[in-house]
Amino acid sequence: MARETWATRLGFILAAVGSAVGLGNIWRFPWQTAENGGSAFLVVYLAIVLLVGVPGLLGEFVIGRRSKKSPVGALRELSGSKKWGYVGAFSVITGISLLSFYSVVGGWILRYLLESGASVVGGNPAYFTNPGQYFGGVSAGADAALYHLLFLGLTALIVFAGVRKGIELGTKVMMPAILVLLVALAGWAATQPNAAAGYAFFLRFDPSVLSENFFAILGPAAGQALFTLSLGAGTMITYSSYLDEDRSLPFDGAAIAVLNTSVGVITGLVVFPLLFSQGINPTETGTGPGALFVGLAGAFSQLPAGTLIATAFFGVVTLAALSSSISMLEIPVAFLVDEYDISRKQAVVGTTGFVAVTGTVCAFNPAIFGFVAGTLVNILLTAGLAAFLLFVGWVMGREALDEFTTGAGSFGRALGTPWLLSVGVVLPLFLVFTLLTHFGVDGTIGFWPTVGVSVLASAAAFLGLRRPTSVV
Ligand code: PHE
Repeated sequence: MARETWATRLGFILAAVGSAVGLGNIWRFPWQTAENGGSAFLVVYLAIVLLVGVPGLLGEFVIGRRSKKSPVGALRELSGSKKWGYVGAFSVITGISLLSFYSVVGGWILRYLLESGASVVGGNPAYFTNPGQYFGGVSAGADAALYHLLFLGLTALIVFAGVRKGIELGTKVMMPAILVLLVALAGWAATQPNAAAGYAFFLRFDPSVLSENFFAILGPAAGQALFTLSLGAGTMITYSSYLDEDRSLPFDGAAIAVLNTSVGVITGLVVFPLLFSQGINPTETGTGPGALFVGLAGAFSQLPAGTLIATAFFGVVTLAALSSSISMLEIPVAFLVDEYDISRKQAVVGTTGFVAVTGTVCAFNPAIFGFVAGTLVNILLTAGLAAFLLFVGWVMGREALDEFTTGAGSFGRALGTPWLLSVGVVLPLFLVFTLLTHFGVDGTIGFWPTVGVSVLASAAAFLGLRRPTSVV
């Protein structure tokens, strides 16, 4: 059967933006920013998005569009070596790990949306009474597992329908809806009393925080940049493998990064004014799940028309989470379809059944959930992207440059060589360095070991895995 492709270029861009825009922007980004020195974090994060995120995204695009395969087949065929196929296989593990915790959070959100929506015409959602206690009751256990299955089912339905009729059509509807609702919410939040204090909290620039904590900020900022751009999991390889036209990859990559970052910033402009207008200080309510569910639920309960606002807000978050979760499920599904020649429908049913179990484990066990959502995913994404980029720089080499420049304008073409150097050497170096900080290595002393390991890894990749005739 002919391999599926996107119907339009816009369809591809929106699907990739849909993957990028998700809980990373709405749930993690504003809080990470607030916790790590406001715009000091923002500056480091933006620099990493630009210098690491965009070139990294282009690295995945080059692999995908060149091979027209999902990561396992892509790395194997482009290198001519089975060894690289095994490296690609990590993306299947990453996709399943991501979806296992993500669909639990998706389930929480779906529950809040349904609760809020059911109360729009009268009454109050149950979580208004005591948001903290409510969240504590539903965030783990059978309740959480049930809604996780519901959210996973929705995800599976979209992926089941295929690349064009499911993912492309779905994101074409979801992305504009998210943008319109978010901008409307931000406009409305601006009219709330004390909104200015929220903006000040979010965007205050404190250079001393930056200079004193640079290495401490670097790790979280890098992790956030990868997570939010869906890098290192092979999602972007898979999505770009469905491209059948040679349009400008640098343009598409830049557009995706700009849209994704804008959504993160606009979300901050909704969340912080809302909290401050109700006298809720985010540093006191804590971060992570508590922040979004307890803090905001508390704010909604005090607002005029709070139920309606809550419905709109959780509606946005549900759509954003869904447009990301489908891109996670697509990784193992594309792998099965490409490698074993089974139908998409069988692949979706099989993978969904598997994640139904792994996600349920996460739903019942907060310790496992926390480990998967935090450490495991950070490590898998960072190591995954480092491997993809070493592959681009050292195995594909000139072939990658050729793919990068095909369809690019003169500006994009001029960026080709610096891009190849950065993905082959500088970025893997940086990624291994941040990887070490995840293992508790202090950034200030971890720098030189990182340089050493990166040079060795690069040399090993160059000597052991380079295809002799990779020149096009
Ligand atoms: N980018 C998504 C988000 O911000 C998460 C994601 C990571 C999706 C990796 C796919 C692959 O929520």
